[in-house]
Amino acid sequence: MYLILLGPPGTGKGTQAKLLAERRRLVHIASGDLFREAVQQGSDLGQRVKAYLDRGELVPDELTIAMLEERVRQPEAQQGAIFDGYPRTLQQAQALDTMLAHLGTAADAALLITASDEELIRRLSGRWLCGACGEIFHERSRPPKLAGRCDRCGGALGQRDDDKPDVVRRRLQGMRPPEALLDYYRQQGKLLEIDGEQEVEAVTRNLLDAIERVASAVR
Ligand code: AP5
Ligand code: MG
Repeated sequence: MYLILLGPPGTGKGTQAKLLAERRRLVHIASGDLFREAVQQGSDLGQRVKAYLDRGELVPDELTIAMLEERVRQPEAQQGAIFDGYPRTLQQAQALDTMLAHLGTAADAALLITASDEELIRRLSGRWLCGACGEIFHERSRPPKLAGRCDRCGGALGQRDDDKPDVVRRRLQGMRPPEALLDYYRQQGKLLEIDGEQEVEAVTRNLLDAIERVASAVR
C-alpha cells in the first residue's frame, strides 16, 4: 500500500505516520525528517535547503522531488510506504505518480488531517522531539515519563528550530496543502478527510478505518 498524509503543520502527520507504519508494516517517508537529517549532516542538500527550513518556506520542487525519488528507489520502500509531508505541490504529486508507476503501482489514498489554527499553535509550541530516535512528545498531550528524556530510547528531548513563534506563523500561512493538490486527489476519488482534533488514538482509529475501506475497495 502507498498512503499519503496531508495536513497543515502540527496536525499530527508525524505522530500518526509512525503509528500507521507500525500497524500496516509500511516504510515511513517524511520529507521534513529527510531535510532535517541532511541539514544536520551538513550534506550538499542540507546546505541548499537550510535557509528554507529556517524560514518555514517550501523547499523548491526540483530539490524535493530529487530527494524523494532517491528514497523511493531504495529496496525497502518497494513493499509499501506512508508519505508524510510529501507531496505539497501539484508538481510533487505528479512526480510521485511517476515514481510509483515505475514500481508498477499507484497511491491508494491521500488522507487529509484537519485541525483549527488555535490547536495547531498549541501543538507546535508544546512539541518535544527525541534527538536520537525522533519520537514525538507534547508537554501536555503526550508528556514524557521522565522530563527531558525519551520514553522509548532514553535520548535527550529538544525542540525544532522552526517551532519558534515567528516561524510557526509563517509555516501556518505557507505550508498548508494547496487547493490544487487537494483537487488533484479529490478528482481521483482518493482524498479522505479525517478530523485531527481528537485524541491521538481516535485519529489513528479513524485513519485505520479509512485505510481499511480503501483496501477492501481495491480487493
Ligand atoms: P515538516 O517536517 O513536514 O513539517 P510540517 O508540515 O510543518 O509538520 P510538522 O512536522 O511540524 O507537524 P506534524 O503534522 O508532523 O505534527 P506532529 O505529529 O509532529 O516540514 C518541515 C519543513 O521542511 C517545511 O517547513 C519545509 O521547509 C520543508 N519541507 C518538508 N516537506 C516539504 C515538501 N514536500 N516540499 C517543500 N518543502 C518541504 O504533532 C505536532 C505536536 O502535536 C506534537 O507535539 C504531538 O505530540 C502533538 N499531537 C499530535 N497529534 C495530537 C492529537 N491528536 N492531540 C493532541 N496533540 C497531538
Ligand atoms: Mg512532522
